[in-house]
Amino acid sequence: MLHPEKHLVIAIDGPAGSGKSSTAKRVADLLGILHLDTGAMYRAITLKCLKLGIPYQDHASIARLLRGTDISFSGPPGAMRVVMDGNDVTQAIRSDEVTKNVSDYCAVPIVRTVLVDLQRKIGGGRSLVCEGRDIGTVVFPDARLKFFMVASDEERARRRQKDFAALGIGKSVAELISEIRERDRKDSSRENSPLCKADDAIELDTTNMTLDEQVQSILEKAKKFLHK
Ligand code: DC
Repeated sequence: MLHPEKHLVIAIDGPAGSGKSSTAKRVADLLGILHLDTGAMYRAITLKCLKLGIPYQDHASIARLLRGTDISFSGPPGAMRVVMDGNDVTQAIRSDEVTKNVSDYCAVPIVRTVLVDLQRKIGGGRSLVCEGRDIGTVVFPDARLKFFMVASDEERARRRQKDFAALGIGKSVAELISEIRERDRKDSSRENSPLCKADDAIELDTTNMTLDEQVQSILEKAKKFLHK
């Protein structure tokens, strides 16, 4: 458990399937601090836009929608629920449709402005593990510890295949590799806060690492900070 006087922000960035979520969850759980999954917030807005039939090009309607949307998290780090406008959307935001469209909605400037603001408010002054694409570069540039996780395309596709299988969706590794590459391309090439490694981030290639090894490598660095 983290001493309340030690304020520790751990930023974890990286592309889809690099191991961010499972690692962030476990590290937050073990340290007893908040786990903030920023991708879930972009997914929630995407879900709402898709449900209402608002295309990502319609920035005015998206801005209106954002003003009337409430996103929050509840529950412990290992079993965090995502709540939007009073409804539990934890499962719905993982659908294939949301996954395929989220890169377009998350590139809309007003979506990023509003969600980054909310992320800073939720994180405000407390210890947390925050995961996403722009955490170490934009959201919490002063984070004490920054990690950038990567893994081979094949390994990331295999991990995604397992996630989808758990939702009852069958997809081939080849299909997933091409979807992952397309999402990487969009996430890395957008103008606003693209996916990129912060200069002071530690790169972790998780291709051949177990979840335990990923967690331990972050905890080791966190402990060094805590015992300073
Ligand atoms: O981590 P994820 O797959 O749940 O993220 C969903 C999408 O949200 C992904 O395509 C990139 C985007 N995202 C982002 O642009 N910035 C973040 N901080 C987190 C996620």
